[in-house]
Amino acid sequence: MTELIITKPDDMHLHLRDGEMLKAVIHHTANQFSRAIVMPNLSDPVTTSEKAQNYFDQIKSFCPNFSPLMTIYFSDQLNNEELLKIRDSSIIFGIKLYPSGVTTNSERGVNSIEDCFHIFEGMEKIDIPLLIHGEVNDTDVDIFDREKVFIDRYLEKITKQFPNLRVVFEHISTKDAVEFVIDGSENLAATITPQHIMMNRNHFLSGGIKPHNYCLPVLKRSSHQKSVLAAALSGNPKFFLGTDSAPHLKNQKESACGCAGVYSAPYAMPMYAQIFDQNNALEKLEPFASFYGADFYKLPRNSAKLKLIKEKTQVYQSIKINNQEVIPYLAGCELDWQIVSN
Ligand code: DOR
Ligand code: ZN
Repeated sequence: MTELIITKPDDMHLHLRDGEMLKAVIHHTANQFSRAIVMPNLSDPVTTSEKAQNYFDQIKSFCPNFSPLMTIYFSDQLNNEELLKIRDSSIIFGIKLYPSGVTTNSERGVNSIEDCFHIFEGMEKIDIPLLIHGEVNDTDVDIFDREKVFIDRYLEKITKQFPNLRVVFEHISTKDAVEFVIDGSENLAATITPQHIMMNRNHFLSGGIKPHNYCLPVLKRSSHQKSVLAAALSGNPKFFLGTDSAPHLKNQKESACGCAGVYSAPYAMPMYAQIFDQNNALEKLEPFASFYGADFYKLPRNSAKLKLIKEKTQVYQSIKINNQEVIPYLAGCELDWQIVSN
């Protein structure tokens, strides 16, 4: 197959930032995706429906034709009154839980998951999805084990105690997470990023450290990569596309203490197309990218289309933002597929 026309996809996990960075990156996503679940971890996190409205307006002002699906940052500002506002909002689609300190701008996240159970109960009752960064923040736990330990300590309990709560286990990176999601109810789903299916920890740490391949959850060994890839290709509707595209300035990635985040947005669909194609599963790309996420979030499927052609394209080396740069994922590499713009 050399040409692919699919229903326009949605990115069910995206970091857009705000201000100048937002202005520079939004078009990369809007060129390929109709909608995106927008993460709330700004440096001033999106903790209330009012802040979500302001952030929504800012995104719209830069890109009026794109539909951002807003999320709220789980914090102690949540209460039943705020939950009702979230339910009644037409622009908010979930609440994102970051264990405090676990990743970029998560300092104001949750310190004790047990203390959140009364909010989970309220969310379950009024059907607000819970989006989880599923890693423990316990620095005694090896960084490669933090996802598995999160499942064992918390996710099992949450899904058991709140069977009707819709939960998205974000950016899964392990075989343990894949198995947990498969075994769970239909209210449990997971997003899958390009980096967790294209790479394993050798791509990050072998032959010199590659800071642009550093993300959280950190890349794991290849057996985990294979398992997450198999989940993406499986046609199981519990697994859908979420890039976790997360731009950081070059100098903040190439640093003695570099930020976590892979900026995959500019070539996200060509990347997924390439990997599905290499695994003879191109027919599974459309449901993974365009159907399963929308269905899980109870959104209508898009009616617009996206066309991809099998022609080589080279990923930009860098993207300029004022006098600074952002380095995209796979910078300078050749990809087999490209987007045909309308
Ligand atoms: O790699 C990551 N970057 N993982 C996250 O969980 C957050 C994200 C970011 O915001 O930069
Ligand atoms: Zn993320």
